[in-house]
Amino acid sequence: MDIKSIMKSLVTSPSHGDTHQSADVLVIGGGAAGLSAALRLADSHRIHLITKGNLTESCTLYAQGGIAAVLDRDDSIESHVQDTLVAGAGLSNPDIVDFTVRHGKENIHWLIDQGIKFTRNEAGTNTDAYHLTREGGHSHRRVIHATDATGRAVETSLATLAKQHKNIKIFENHIAVDLITQEKVQIAKNQAANKESLCNRCLGAYVLDRNKAHVKVFHAKFVILANGGASKVYLYTTNPDTATGDGIAMAWRAGCRVANMEFNQFHPTCLYHPEAKSFLITEALRGEGAKLLLPNGRRFMHKFDKRAELAPRDVVAHAIDHEMKRIGADNVLLDISHKPLDFIQRHFPTVYRRCLEFGFDISKQPIPVVPAAHYTCGGVVTNKHGQTDIAGLYAIGEVAFTGLHGANRMASNSILECLVFAQSASKHIKQHADIPMPVTLPEWDESRVTDSDEEVVVTHNWDELRRFMWDYVGIVRTNKRLQRAKSRINLLKQEITDYYGNFRITNDLIELRNLVDTACLMVESAIQRKESRGLHYTLDYPETLEKKANTVLTPENYKENSDVAILVDVII
Ligand code: FAD
Ligand code: SIN
Repeated sequence: MDIKSIMKSLVTSPSHGDTHQSADVLVIGGGAAGLSAALRLADSHRIHLITKGNLTESCTLYAQGGIAAVLDRDDSIESHVQDTLVAGAGLSNPDIVDFTVRHGKENIHWLIDQGIKFTRNEAGTNTDAYHLTREGGHSHRRVIHATDATGRAVETSLATLAKQHKNIKIFENHIAVDLITQEKVQIAKNQAANKESLCNRCLGAYVLDRNKAHVKVFHAKFVILANGGASKVYLYTTNPDTATGDGIAMAWRAGCRVANMEFNQFHPTCLYHPEAKSFLITEALRGEGAKLLLPNGRRFMHKFDKRAELAPRDVVAHAIDHEMKRIGADNVLLDISHKPLDFIQRHFPTVYRRCLEFGFDISKQPIPVVPAAHYTCGGVVTNKHGQTDIAGLYAIGEVAFTGLHGANRMASNSILECLVFAQSASKHIKQHADIPMPVTLPEWDESRVTDSDEEVVVTHNWDELRRFMWDYVGIVRTNKRLQRAKSRINLLKQEITDYYGNFRITNDLIELRNLVDTACLMVESAIQRKESRGLHYTLDYPETLEKKANTVLTPENYKENSDVAILVDVII
């Protein structure tokens, strides 16, 4: 339970200054998931959409490869479903995979209707058709894209439409701190009736206005978590600073189940350069023929998988990690220099330009690459409508666990999931719109806290967490490493809880608290999985078990101070 929520003074009034905000739907997050949900709802609902930084800063903005969907007449739903199931290493939910893939095409057309300009086939071929590229795990060309900057095209177009819509009010530089639920409010009012009689509805959220350093109360009939993933928990990541697991941590603290948090995806190919900040080299390069090489120029992927460079990501990242450790190399190489310059410039303008800035001409030479943390396959448990365990609370996009990705997400299935679940969640909300607006919500209480005297505690803990997560909870795990990570997380948790209780909150403190909560869920889940499967590889249990089970963590069963978290396995 969130201590600050319990300490609330119960002074309430829905309309003094801008401290209280109310709308039909509060959308937390402005990536592909949040923006599409907001736009789909705005014809009938008043929307508040908050983002913790600028509106467009998100993972979506940096997506390169594209969006997977069945668009080619030689492709089929069955094939896309089958490829996703294979990549998911036995843990994807076939019903959810089928549901997502079936809704792919109409969502791509929805994007086209919103004005997104996807790359078309070259003149001389079928110029009416969109160009489809290929990525790891896909047995067909099915990835629609806007050159190698698909995310930028999607994000900037949807953000412009959202800004123009009269029913959408956008709050930038507003970071959600915690969800407000009926249960928390009743506890704060000392009305902690017996649990069975409680309908634990989500009523809104506490949100820090970063410019004014002031916590506001956002009231809403429905709240949609669209906060994205948690790859910033690792030292090296392709993700921007927004990806700190805030949605997962908030939902967990509010009482939602989370699942499969041990499956952290490492993208195999990020540019290896001290100033490149893990710049991603899109998998579409390999889809168009780029080869992975050892520093001596030899190919190696065929030794690991017959699909070679186009094997799913878990296989490729693991193979690279293995080879780097075997020969003591800092990186491997990626080579597309056999392709003509104009092909490279046309298909990969962003990658070509960015690499040139670092002194690499990809049309002439192989480039150094390494894996980096990329995607959080686990998340807040939801159903087909994006509904979580708490009434009125939805989770969509990377923050959610829908069952689509299983033990490893297939390339370009993520934005697809954002779109499909934004559609289904908004449809569900429209069908259940006759909910009264919550009016009496307690204000954030800062009467017992002071300004921090030692910000260094936050920066130090932040660095420490990301480094040991990289070293102990990375591509290859062991029991010992996971136990080491767990004991360090417990220490950090204690320190952050004390700090949080005593000092005024800041953006960095909120993010650190969320990162530590999320890291804790990742480590607990990894400890529970006594096998290697998909993205979870451990030297202590190298085999894959026949029994297929998701790791589902339930807050009620989780004893913070016990050595062993109680987990519930759900067998598919
Ligand atoms: P995001 O796009 O990450 O948006 C999260 C939003 O939540 C942001 O607006 C952020 O400000 C906000 N937020 C977070 N916490 C808070 C808080 N506490 N309060 C307020 N706001 C908050 N996937 C594909 O399918 N195809 C690709 O080609 C592809 N390429 C990728 C390339 C890169 C470099 C990266 C990093 C990812 C790529 N992915 C790709 C993955 C994909 O981009 C993401 O999974 C997807 O965009 C996530 O969308 P989202 O809307 O769930 O979250
Ligand atoms: C890429 O372009 O390689 C990233 C695609 C993805 O993460 O789905």
